[in-house]
Amino acid sequence: MYSEKVMDHFEHPRNVGEIENASGVGTVGNAKCGDIMRIYLDIDENQIIRDVKFKTFGCGAAVATSSMATEMVKGKTIQEAMEVTNKAVMEALDGLPPVKVHCSLLAEEAIHAALWDYAEKHDIKIEGLEKPKSDIHEGEEAEEEEY
Ligand code: FES
Repeated sequence: MYSEKVMDHFEHPRNVGEIENASGVGTVGNAKCGDIMRIYLDIDENQIIRDVKFKTFGCGAAVATSSMATEMVKGKTIQEAMEVTNKAVMEALDGLPPVKVHCSLLAEEAIHAALWDYAEKHDIKIEGLEKPKSDIHEGEEAEEEEY
């Protein structure tokens, strides 16, 4: 069901933890399952992501996608980090089962929320970044129809 890369990142997640006095912190919830993700970013004066950590109350797929996503944004510029979509993360992990795709949104949304926090604190605008939603509603409508 899961690729070797997913299992590796689930069993040995990279960048778990928190950063004290982080440049930006983002917390998002997944409306579909109620799981929560928090991402901490340490961004230097050249807008390079020096360090990144995550914490989650999420499933194995959320852990694996966050581990991979944090690896993909570390050392990158803010604009490069904006290109790390959940799709890019899933590709880097050799795919996820369709029912687990919503889990991969947590990391992307939490990174965006942390970047938003950073931008607000520094009074800057990040191209293409939208104000984060407090919840991810992907798939919710389809779920409601079932009742
Ligand atoms: Fe909630 Fe995967 S089931 S993040």
